[in-house]
Amino acid sequence: MNQKLTPSELGANPSVRLSDDGASVVIIDQTLLPRETKIPALQSIEEMYDAIFKLRVRGAPAIGIFAAYCVAVLAAHSAARDFTAFTDELRAHIRYLDASRPTAVNLGKQLRRMERVLGAQSDITTAVETLQSEAFAIHREDIAMCRAISEFGVTLLRDGDGVLTHCNAGPLATSRYGTGLGPILMAHERGMTLHAYVDETRPLLQGARLTAYELYNAGVDTTLICDNMASIVMREGRVNAAFVGCDRVAMNGDAANKIGTSGVAILCKHYGIPLYVCCPSSTIDPNCATGDDIVIEQRDGDEIAEMFYANRVAPVGVKCYNPAFDVTPHGLITAIITEKGILREPYDLAINS
Ligand code: MRU
Repeated sequence: MNQKLTPSELGANPSVRLSDDGASVVIIDQTLLPRETKIPALQSIEEMYDAIFKLRVRGAPAIGIFAAYCVAVLAAHSAARDFTAFTDELRAHIRYLDASRPTAVNLGKQLRRMERVLGAQSDITTAVETLQSEAFAIHREDIAMCRAISEFGVTLLRDGDGVLTHCNAGPLATSRYGTGLGPILMAHERGMTLHAYVDETRPLLQGARLTAYELYNAGVDTTLICDNMASIVMREGRVNAAFVGCDRVAMNGDAANKIGTSGVAILCKHYGIPLYVCCPSSTIDPNCATGDDIVIEQRDGDEIAEMFYANRVAPVGVKCYNPAFDVTPHGLITAIITEKGILREPYDLAINS
């Protein structure tokens, strides 16, 4: 049986963890950072759904780990009297959580993994223990994958490089290190001097609020830019590489990530700058042949029209279009970095090898 993660495995301020008594999932509410560090302990399915939907917990790997712990906690709280009622109840919770966000592969993947473990049990007590162990295993695996991705990514950086990143693919979005930010943080830890350019990432400002916070606190030389400034920063020769995370990769290498990533990719191509997409290999979805098969989450227009403004800026009633992700065509991606290595075109062959 897997044991709970030690404090040294978890590191300082994990974005997601199980409470010591196993009764709640503890998260850092990412909607409030960096202004306020609130650490709620969630127990009910409604709070859990809401945490994913409202992006209190966000970032593809972090959502997957969170969902696994949610299933373990819901199992521990079940009042079902027999095993059939117990599994029915948990399966309904799993379906409900799975509907909270569509684009990141990790949510559904980790929920299905927990459901498979549930299906292999025959009594409630063992099921509760085994589900908890599986959630710990998922968390541990993510830490190892992020570390490996970061190690591969560091080999693509040189001392003095300027690196642009979009959205937040750091420790908050994962377990530790991060994916897109992992190489930058690891290179910095190893004494390299890097200059990070952080897209603010409209409309929810994950770059300004979370990436700038993580890199700046780690001591990386960090400059925040508006999304529409990436082109001039690249034209001025300040950017040697772009590193981003990813929510789902199709079998041909098309990659969905936070809205605006494909624009960064087009700029990189124009200026001859390599674009690296960093993700665990489990982000590659065998059910998606190309990026056209990836479901793009659509969010409320108020996130554009009024959120983060003291007063609403847009006319009341104006139409808003708010896709939360976009797909970067594989031809614009220099390499996809997973825990297994650095994959390059043709991605269908690299992925299948
Ligand atoms: O909507 P979000 O904030 O969950 O979007 C997150 C991203 O797009 C990240 O880049 C992606 O999940 C990779 S996180 C390691």
